[in-house]
Amino acid sequence: MIPLLAKLEMLREEASREIKRISSVADTAAFRIKYLGRKGEITACLRELPSVPIELRPQVGAKANSLKLELENAIDEKQKAFAPWQGPKTRLDLTLPGRSRFLGKKHPITRTIEDIISIFYGLGFSVAEGPNVETDYYNFDALNTPADHPARDINDTFYVEKGICLRTHTSPVQIRVMERQKPPVRIIAPGRCYRKDTADASHSPNFFQTEGLYVDAGVTFADLKGVINTFALRMFGKDVQVRFRPHFFPFTEPSVEYDFSCVICGGKGCRTCKNSGWIEISGAGMVDPAVLKAVGYDSEKYSGYAFGMGVDRITMLRYRVSDIRYLYDNDLRVLNNL
Ligand code: PHE
Repeated sequence: MIPLLAKLEMLREEASREIKRISSVADTAAFRIKYLGRKGEITACLRELPSVPIELRPQVGAKANSLKLELENAIDEKQKAFAPWQGPKTRLDLTLPGRSRFLGKKHPITRTIEDIISIFYGLGFSVAEGPNVETDYYNFDALNTPADHPARDINDTFYVEKGICLRTHTSPVQIRVMERQKPPVRIIAPGRCYRKDTADASHSPNFFQTEGLYVDAGVTFADLKGVINTFALRMFGKDVQVRFRPHFFPFTEPSVEYDFSCVICGGKGCRTCKNSGWIEISGAGMVDPAVLKAVGYDSEKYSGYAFGMGVDRITMLRYRVSDIRYLYDNDLRVLNNL
């Protein structure tokens, strides 16, 4: 065999072994220099060509050229594999604005309920729940609201069927909790309520309340005031004032309604507080002994307070929402700003 031909064959084998081990741009460059460089192996072979007998030169030359081509192709492949930039199509333009993902968020009412819960957790309350579809007994009778009370008028409430209605307040949860638990009881009960109200800026047939109930030996009205004051402070900060006004509820005695000073105008008077400087939050009072008796508690030994809390009102104050319907329309143009 022609020695140069044998040498080329050896180089081919050696190169194909080496090319498998190439793992970087630098390796590729070194490989090219070793075989195809000016002082490279294949170049050296071609230089020796004149020493080959003339009739054999075409065969050897062809072999050398095809090896050269083979290695050039292999080098190209490697370079493509390692190259960080492969032309303008895939080039990263880091100056382009990013594409942000759409992230959902909690509804403002949900956020308010969670914050109410966390404030009352801190005061030793736990969370209770009750059904939205209630019996007359829990929604009215057990709360000392007799059958001839005007609130029970068929036109005054959403009845599902006779004796079963959508709860008009969260107060029935008081009864359900006391029925299954002995004192001390210290719960809040957030949830939906329903009333046959025509929707306007401050009314919605579906709204949210949070009930509060604390029954134990020696609970007084001062405890109620303390807890409402603390809540107002933690929810709205130190500038908010609380006021209690005498009122009537069948299931509390004495009863009050309580207001927070308007956080929008700072109590000076504005549209939201109808120029009074105060926003009504809900009702409260000392649990009527008749209610304690209805659940089998000893009303001589135990006393307690209960309060309602208008979740929608608090949400409207926190987020400066002037119309309750914005909270229920689910218009993202509004909700995304809250
Ligand atoms: N349930 C009453 C209402 O919806 C509020 C209230 C709760 C009053 C607890 C007294 C005690 O108006």
